[in-house]
This record gives sequence, structure tokens and C-alpha cells, in this order.
Amino acid sequence: MCGIVGCTGSTPVKDVLVNGLKRLEYRGYDSAGVAIQEPDGLKVVHRVGKVAGLESELAYHGELNGTCGIGHTRWATHGRPSTANAHPHTSCDGRIAVVHNGIIENFAELRERLQERGHRFSSETDTEVLAHLVEEAYEQHPGDLLTAMRTSLQHVIGAYGVAVVCADEPGVIVCARKDSPIVVGRGADASYVASDIIALIDATRDVVVLEDGQLARLTPDGIAYFDERGRQIEPCVTHVDWDVDLAEKGGYPDFMLKEIHEQPRVVRDTLAGRMVGGELSIDELGLSYEELNLIDRVYVIACGTSYHAGLIAKNLIERWARIPTEVEVASEFRYRNPIITPSTLVVAVSQSGETADTLAAIRDARIKGAKVFGITNVVGSPVARESDGVIYTKANKEIAVASTKSFLGQVVSLTLLALLLAQTKGKLTTAQVRLLFRELGDTAEQIEGILQDATAIDEAAVACKDAASALFVGRGIGSAICYEGALKLKEISYLHAEAYAAGEMKHGPIALIDDGFPVIAVATQSPVYDKLVSNLKECEARGALIVAIATEGDEEIKKVAQHVIYIPKVRDCFTPITASVPLQLFARSIALLRGCDVDQPRNLAKSVTVE
Ligand code: F6R
Repeated sequence: MCGIVGCTGSTPVKDVLVNGLKRLEYRGYDSAGVAIQEPDGLKVVHRVGKVAGLESELAYHGELNGTCGIGHTRWATHGRPSTANAHPHTSCDGRIAVVHNGIIENFAELRERLQERGHRFSSETDTEVLAHLVEEAYEQHPGDLLTAMRTSLQHVIGAYGVAVVCADEPGVIVCARKDSPIVVGRGADASYVASDIIALIDATRDVVVLEDGQLARLTPDGIAYFDERGRQIEPCVTHVDWDVDLAEKGGYPDFMLKEIHEQPRVVRDTLAGRMVGGELSIDELGLSYEELNLIDRVYVIACGTSYHAGLIAKNLIERWARIPTEVEVASEFRYRNPIITPSTLVVAVSQSGETADTLAAIRDARIKGAKVFGITNVVGSPVARESDGVIYTKANKEIAVASTKSFLGQVVSLTLLALLLAQTKGKLTTAQVRLLFRELGDTAEQIEGILQDATAIDEAAVACKDAASALFVGRGIGSAICYEGALKLKEISYLHAEAYAAGEMKHGPIALIDDGFPVIAVATQSPVYDKLVSNLKECEARGALIVAIATEGDEEIKKVAQHVIYIPKVRDCFTPITASVPLQLFARSIALLRGCDVDQPRNLAKSVTVE
């Protein structure tokens, strides 16, 4: 997603900025730009498209010899991908330039007040308010960019990693962080800032990762660190001994693990800015209240992991909004002549946004008169372009072929959609929606807890690694989670796995079970917990090796399961978000034990653009 670089030294920085941005390309972005301090003011060049395009454009701007500058790769959130919306953004007088990662939740309110005070805006972004806020603050604190920035941030609600330069302070970059990473480092003869260690690694191995609320002031001669009250502080320096490959993985041994660990952020980013004045809001849907209210049937169409997110959506939409919902694999939907009327809503879910079957299904649904919402991770992708409205999951670019954080982003986005439909239809009160929204947000912290200790997961993986096959069982929403758990296992470890609604076991699959056959159960607290335990007893009686994902404090489950992986207590409807995480780790652990490449499983591609 978005990336920041900045450098101040004694030699021209243009190439340093461009090379730093190239290092951040793997994160995914739609536009790029730089602001360089030149003798006659700031030179700002930004454009939609790749960094290579920016580099060519910079060549047209003649000699740029400035020795201090900032750069950015943008992944659109507020405002479409366009040159006007690409960072850096500048103040009215063009003397201040800002690059920003994160979301400023109260930007609409700040923008309105700034406009009333005469500021002119040239983009649709949330970031631009920062440039104008700093401009005003700089008038109060001339020659003190640090204080101008610090006081401006006091007005901001939301997340930011931010860097700013001012034409009136040559050689100075100020940066700050809250809930979005900023890393600062001192090279041989220059000071550097970035949003990711990978962009600094050629210049320095000793870095300071700013903590929330901290700021840094960079000059060619050194870096000073400050807390949110402006008091100078001693930073904590980290030595990085990663190679470039490891740095791209953020220090994790593989992209899959990195992406699993990004999931708390995905939850937070997906929810940011969605509760406006106490009401749930998804503006990008592009449907009026009346149109939403008319919806009387929902189809979720998708493939693979995205289809499993759809299974969870069906449960939630029917539970809360009471709208009949079908989930169908796109490759079947497109050839089946489904019943579609103008009051049918089709929700197309696709991480890549270019899956051929899903696209064909969208086209078919629109011809038949349905409204289509896309849920995708890729800005401007065909799914986004061909849908009536789109919700972007905030997963950032996913590199491991097996989907993890994208799946979670889809589940959270679909949960929001279910809540919105329930709110619109009056099936849940505003107070209920708010409560559920808050608890949905709490899952970010709960996932962090799960990620802290994988010991029980790894032990269960060792016990199951040599099996020829495994069954994943659950009931209610738990069975939907099992489909994804089984897919994750088979695609990266090549261990055959199937998912079943546990009540169906006795109608066939139980014949598979003999001594040591792995049965992985989503056995969290729910209205059907007792039923599930009875099904597990039937498996136990036939010698199954039972691994249970269970709710913390559940001692009873130990009577039936040999391995218990505890997760925090959440409302049943949010179990897909928490219980999926240990299942992802379990699949990865088994794959590694079986010597598989977890990032690039055989025969699979990240985007399936053929039928
Ligand atoms: C599995 C996985 C695939 C995709 C499927 C659809 O981990 O990633 O099953 O979910 O190929 O892809 P998208 O979501 O890009 O349409």
C-alpha cells in the first residue's frame, strides 16, 4: 500500500528517493511522487502510475540538484487514483509538502473548517488537510517546522505515518507516527526516513522505529527525536542484520507469516472511518438508502478463498438483515441462468480483482439487471471497474499465493456490509449496530494475542504432519471457517483435507476415521457447541486424533481433544475472524514440516485470469 521515503544530505537526493520508492513497489500502489527542495522553492512532481513513469517524468524537469526531499507511493483510499490525488500534497502557497500513510478520520470536518478560513484544495485526499494545517501552524511558529507539525497533528483523529518539508527550512524533514510505521536512520553523510526498513537498508543498518506519538527532525548533520509534547527524547536504536530478501519480508522468514501477522492492521484499517456520527457508513457502495432497502435477495459470487468469505457473509446477512442469501462459485453461477431481478444484489468478492470466472459472472449479473458490488483488494482492477460500487479491502498487496490477510479483509468488509443491510432494513437498532461494530474492532487486539504464542499450534502440526488426509469439522458459522482451514492446508502442504458440517459426519465421512486420523474442529463457544462435542465424541470413539480450536477457559474440550488451541472469547458471529488465524498458522506449520514452499505452492497462481 502507501510508502514513504525521505532523505536530507549534501548530495542530490532525486535518485535516492526514486530508488527508495522502487524498493517499496512490492507493497502495491497506484501513483507516486516526490517533493525536492530546490533553490527557488519546492519542486513537486507526482503522477498516476508506476515509479518508472515518475522517473521518466523527472527527467523532463531538467537538473534537480536539491539535497533534501520526500517521496511517496500511494494506494488510493480517499479519492480515486489520479495525478491530482498522488502525494506529495502542498499548502496553498506551495511552500509546504506532505506525504502521509494512514487515514485521517476527521478529514471532512477539518477540510470544511480550513476552506472556511480560505484554504484552497486541489485533491480529494484526506492527506491534503495536513499540508494546510501545517501551513497555518507555521504562520504561528515561523522557522519551527517541528512545532508546526506537532501542533497540527493535535487536530487529527486517525492513523498517520507522515513526513513534511518546507521551502523556508532548507535541509529539514520532520516526520511523525501514530498507528502507521515510520523508520528513521542515519547514513554516512545523510539522514533518512521511510515507512519500511527495506527503503533504508542500503544507507544504514541502525534504525529507529518511531513509537506512536513520537516525532523526528532530520537535518544533513543528524536526527533529533521528540515526544508528543515536544520534549527531546533518547531514541531506541535497532540494528538490522537482515538481507534485502528478509527486509522485504519485514524480518519474517516468509511472506505468508508476515501477512498473517499484518491481520490486526487489516481489521483496523478496514474499519477506520466507517462509523460516522454514530451511524455505519459505506459511501463507496453508490446505492441510496431507498435502493438498499429494496434489496430482497443477495448472491455472493467468488472463487476459492473468496468464496469461503462468502459463506461467512451468508450466515451474517441472513442472521442480521434477514435477506435470503446464496453463495455460489463464480464458475458455476456464470453458466446457470440464476434468478435475478432488479432488487437482487450481487456481491462479487475477489482479492486480485481479475479472476476470469468472477468477472464473467459480474457481466452476466449486470446484463440480467442486478446491482453489483465488488469487494476487492486491487484499486482500479477489472472487478472494481465493472461493478456499480466497490469496497476495497485494506489488506495491501498480498504476495504469498495462499490468501490470508486478504481473506480477513474480505470477511471484515462483508461483516460491515451485513451490518449496513441490517441497519438499513431496521432489523438491528443503531445501538446494536454500534455495539457489534465495537466488538468487531476488538478482534484486532484478540488476533494480536493469538499471534503471540503459536506453541500449541505447532505441537498439533507435528502430530498431524504425516497424515494422508484430514477432516475439518464445525457447526453453524464454524463449518464455514472449516472450508477455508481445509483449503489452506491442502494448497500449501499438499496434505489432502476436506471440510464438513460436523452433523454430516455420520452420513458418510465418518467411514474414513480410524486410529490417528486427524479431525480438526472449530469448537468455540456457540449455540451449537454441545452438538459439536457429541459429533467429536463419535470421532474419538473411532480413534481420531482430535485438534480443537476452542474458547479460552473451556476445560471440557480437553476430555475429547488431544490438542487444544485456545483463542479469546468472542461473540459467535466474529469467530471467523479469530479462529481463521490459528488455522492459517496450522497449515503453514505443517507445510514447513513437510518441506513445502509456503509462499509459492506448486501449480497455483496469485491471479487466475483464465477460465
Ligand atoms: C487460496 C486463494 C485462491 C483465491 C481464488 C480467487 O488461498 O487465494 O483460492 O481465493 O483463486 O482469487 P481472487 O480472490 O483473486 O478472485
